[in-house]
Amino acid sequence: MKKSKWTSLFSILLILSLILAACNSNEDSGSGGNDDENKSEDEQVTIVYARGQDATKATDEIIKAFEKEHPNINVEFREMPSDTGAQHDAYVTALNGKSSEIDVMDLDVVWPAEFAQAGYVMPLDRFLKNDGIDLKDYNEGAVSAANFEGRQWAMPKFIDAGMLFYQTDITEEPSKNWDELMSQASELKGEEGTKFGYLMQAKQYEGLVCNAVEFIASYGGSIVNEDGEVVVDSEESIKGLEKLVEVANSDFVPENITTFTEPESHTSFIEGESPFIRNWPYQYALANDEEQSKIVGNVGVVPLPEGDAGSAAALGGWMTAINQFSEHPEEAWEFVKFMTGPEGQKISAIHGGLAPTISSLFEDEEILEANPFFKEEGFVNALESAVSRPVVPNYPEISEIIQIEVSKAIAGESTPEEAAKAMQSKIENAMK
Ligand code: GLC
Repeated sequence: MKKSKWTSLFSILLILSLILAACNSNEDSGSGGNDDENKSEDEQVTIVYARGQDATKATDEIIKAFEKEHPNINVEFREMPSDTGAQHDAYVTALNGKSSEIDVMDLDVVWPAEFAQAGYVMPLDRFLKNDGIDLKDYNEGAVSAANFEGRQWAMPKFIDAGMLFYQTDITEEPSKNWDELMSQASELKGEEGTKFGYLMQAKQYEGLVCNAVEFIASYGGSIVNEDGEVVVDSEESIKGLEKLVEVANSDFVPENITTFTEPESHTSFIEGESPFIRNWPYQYALANDEEQSKIVGNVGVVPLPEGDAGSAAALGGWMTAINQFSEHPEEAWEFVKFMTGPEGQKISAIHGGLAPTISSLFEDEEILEANPFFKEEGFVNALESAVSRPVVPNYPEISEIIQIEVSKAIAGESTPEEAAKAMQSKIENAMK
């Protein structure tokens, strides 16, 4: 009897001390504080930074500049699949297994809520506070995309908005609405050695969701409204889907357009194969890269064509987060701070054509010289009014429903009406 009493007292003490130790180590990891305190100044630390394939030189340039400023931190770049869904699944597998292999990673704008809820990434609030970083200097929408339950889980690195890029030596001005642009694409196909008239991303993956969101919104529809209600089964959304299906089945897009993601479409565009492409802002820097592009100096950018309700761009972008299981949170933070701070974002903008999330950088002369369209009204409006995808922790489930139903409609296995109805009921179920 006596013995078991002592044993349980001992167990309670042991549990309490374990809890205390765990609390302390949690605090350390998020405090911008002292878990690396005993490290000597010149001890070398290597951190692993993961992101999708970078077709531009931006990532290499950022790492070079960072290592120069932090000679004791080496950054190893781990290239992940460029398809954002495949990239997502790779992180989820690693982080479910509590892997510490990757320290820093870029998150698509649609993931932070899920990653925060699953405990994959570290809250950054203490780091921000310690370093006096004011999130008010950043684009509000981008900040809020990584804010979940009152805490900040990732730093906004760049914003994306879908735009129309064109070859200026083939056409001086793209038509402003979908029907006219389709005729123009059809007429220009074959001009100046082009093989196609229009390029988009129509594979069954996240990029198709973005293209669909744009078509739907430009005809006045939406998937989820401001109150979080599913409203996709509407006349407007159906019109948008009809137009998407028409474009994807036209004879001016590549026959295998349903295998096209960003790399397939941007490669074809910089090879000079199409007068038009729908893509993200990085397309501009890439098309002007002399080592890769055949259309340097001949690239224009305008908002996407208008439907009945005007032009609409999907809101995209990437945030940078720290793995909750990283063994080098301090060094990881230094890199996140640099890459998503003014210096890193400037490199991203100049070498990668990426739109900054720090608002004042839109006035930086070197950035504007590299990306003259950053100051154009059409681009600024597209960024400001870009349409978000549903912001929910189970976003991958919602995205999959949209991908499947839109793909079926493109393949002619369902009508746009049926696709809208199926999305409505399936998304409603998933959001319950
Ligand atoms: C871009 C966008 C991202 C989007 C993806 C789709 O990378 O920034 O938000 O999910 O394209 O392919």
